[in-house]
Amino acid sequence: MVEPLVDPFQRAIRYLRVSVTDRCDFRCVYCMSENMKFLPKKELLTLEELDRMCSTFVHLGVEKLRITGGEPLMRRNIMHFFRDMSRHLDSGALQELTITTNGSQLERFADELYACGVRRINVSIDTLDEEKFARVTRWGRLPQVMRGLDAAQKAGLKVKLNAVALKGFNEDELFTMAEFCSERGMDLTWIEVMPMGDLGNEDRVGQYWSMRDLRAQLEQQYTLTDLAESTGGPARYVRVEETGQKIGFITPLSHNFCESCNRVRMTCTGELFMCLGQEDMLDLRPALRNFPHDDGPLEQEIRRAISLKPEGHDFDYSRRRADGQVSRHMSHTGG
Ligand code: GTP
Ligand code: 5AD
Ligand code: SF4
Repeated sequence: MVEPLVDPFQRAIRYLRVSVTDRCDFRCVYCMSENMKFLPKKELLTLEELDRMCSTFVHLGVEKLRITGGEPLMRRNIMHFFRDMSRHLDSGALQELTITTNGSQLERFADELYACGVRRINVSIDTLDEEKFARVTRWGRLPQVMRGLDAAQKAGLKVKLNAVALKGFNEDELFTMAEFCSERGMDLTWIEVMPMGDLGNEDRVGQYWSMRDLRAQLEQQYTLTDLAESTGGPARYVRVEETGQKIGFITPLSHNFCESCNRVRMTCTGELFMCLGQEDMLDLRPALRNFPHDDGPLEQEIRRAISLKPEGHDFDYSRRRADGQVSRHMSHTGG
């Protein structure tokens, strides 16, 4: 029996988020700068290396694997990786293989994702207005993503929309987004904007729309019942009694959820970040590459990394400035 991964705060680590590429076909304003410089492709872990890394985590008790980016579906031949990882679903070691995507490539990949055992995906859409969508993603086009949503649902994938709550941007879409999701049988999660990346002239404090306020606004028209269930991520969910729909809230700023953190993040170059909101990381590449036929050193390095996991992030806007900011771009660790 393999000893599970437990951090110094007695939190069991069962959720691995893996960024398979730092590239993306969008440039969302809260995630990337317009002229992002990407890593030379030769620095990325190969698909075989990604497989070995993930499989080692699964061996150490990781049950949920979420593939992120950048935009994960931009990584060449990524379906080979999904197909190979599905063996861990078949063996019962992995309970969930899933993805967070911007939806732009779903039209092409939805069926294959389903065939690889993916059952539930999260798609990031902050607005249902084409012009606003083009503004917030800089490079994205909403109709393409809508076709992706159709393809995903047709393929049998359960879809959850992720919307970053931005004051003065999508406040007026609180109910239209809820209705859109409810009509299409999709869950919806609102996320508080985090102070990450190159803030430049971005005013994160001014953009910050707290989940407390957002919820209060929803309650003006809906009756919300708190749900105890969890998807294993940080969202807390309510049911809208009028429609039966589920809405989630991710509240890194207004209600820190770090005490129940169950996850770590690996970048496309094999760095393990122990917390989204901290710079601590451990490079797993040497253990991977120096011992190509022995997973022992890699397992040891993973255990060492987990023993260094910090208690939580320090994001804070309460002093009217973005404290605890992390200069790393969100796309680096995949959100
Ligand atoms: P589910 O499996 O559906 O619960 O998904 P998830 O919320 O775990 O993953 P998703 O990729 O949809 O992430 C949604 C948002 O939650 C993103 O903005 C993430 O950055 C944020 N998030 C996820 N995990 C953490 C975390 O540990 N800390 C913080 N501060 N934010 C997180
Ligand atoms: N704050 C909150 N969420 C963010 N995301 C990207 N950048 C930020 C940020 N600064 C979200 C994306 C996507 C998820 C992976 O992370 O919208 O839904
Ligand atoms: Fe790409 Fe997602 Fe970042 Fe937008 S938030 S630029 S879609 S990785």
